[in-house]
Amino acid sequence: MAGVSKQDFLDLHVIAAEALRKIVDEGHRLKAARRGLGQAAPDPDARQQDKLLAMIFEKPSTRTRVSFDAGMRQLGGQTLNLGGGEMQLGRGETIADTARVLSRYVDAIMIRTSGHDKLLELAEYAEVPVINGLTNFSHPCQLIADLMTFEEHRGPIAGRSVAWCGDGNNVATSWIHAAVQFGFELRLACPDEFAPDPAVLRWAADQRGKVHVTADAQAAVEGTHCVVTDTWVSMGDKDAERRHKLLAPYQVNEKLMDLAAVDAVFMHCLPAHRGEEVTVGVIDGPQSVIFDEAENRLHAQKSILNWCLG
Ligand code: CP
Ligand code: NVA
Repeated sequence: MAGVSKQDFLDLHVIAAEALRKIVDEGHRLKAARRGLGQAAPDPDARQQDKLLAMIFEKPSTRTRVSFDAGMRQLGGQTLNLGGGEMQLGRGETIADTARVLSRYVDAIMIRTSGHDKLLELAEYAEVPVINGLTNFSHPCQLIADLMTFEEHRGPIAGRSVAWCGDGNNVATSWIHAAVQFGFELRLACPDEFAPDPAVLRWAADQRGKVHVTADAQAAVEGTHCVVTDTWVSMGDKDAERRHKLLAPYQVNEKLMDLAAVDAVFMHCLPAHRGEEVTVGVIDGPQSVIFDEAENRLHAQKSILNWCLG
């Protein structure tokens, strides 16, 4: 809305690199500050008292839902959990009207939805900050947690390399944005039919990012410091059988993982499908950091909330 200044968290490529670096660093700090505290205890510097976050879920969620809820409470604030289907939005009320009305009740809105356009429209008309809790295009909150996770295990990510194996999906888009903004190399191994969004790849090339796409998973993983994958069938995808067929050569298994650097970590945003995109031996093996990654969603969300709410 014209004249209203607010900080939306919509995507990593539309936020300054310096701001993103601070969000990750604040996530590390918030995590350290909780050592020895119970999950429900408020943070020593809880700073969102009297603030209310509305969370709209038009798709299922475990991590995003619970980490935003727990995180907002730890910051001293409160949440409202709204299913898209329970709102008048599900009966045709416009996004613009919904945005303007919610802005009169709450201090920030987090939305998980299919259409990225819906997120952008919500942000355009809301007078309060809007957070992208996943769309078909991207999943930026996930990346703040993923970067935290890599860094707490292996140090600064700038200058390191990451291999993405599988579907060039919404999480892959946010990895591409992150590679440019945080200065690391990203090699994506995807079949042609499920390659990342060409416009996102063009953006990365324009920014002189070190982002490469190949159909060869072995070549992508060779010597890399981090191997990442995600489900072959994202929420809303219809062509499961074809996806399984084309994505099978991109499974992260022990043989593929052996090609990475000896100290490479394995990451997955979860939920995972053991025996499909990743084998049990890898996801439950010594290189996997998936539960730290899931935990870091909590610290990351809080850092994002503090950035949005000031
Ligand atoms: N990784 C992630 O966003 O998980 P949920 O779908 O459970 O929120
Ligand atoms: N790509 C997955 C991510 C789930 C967190 C999906 O969109 O379903």
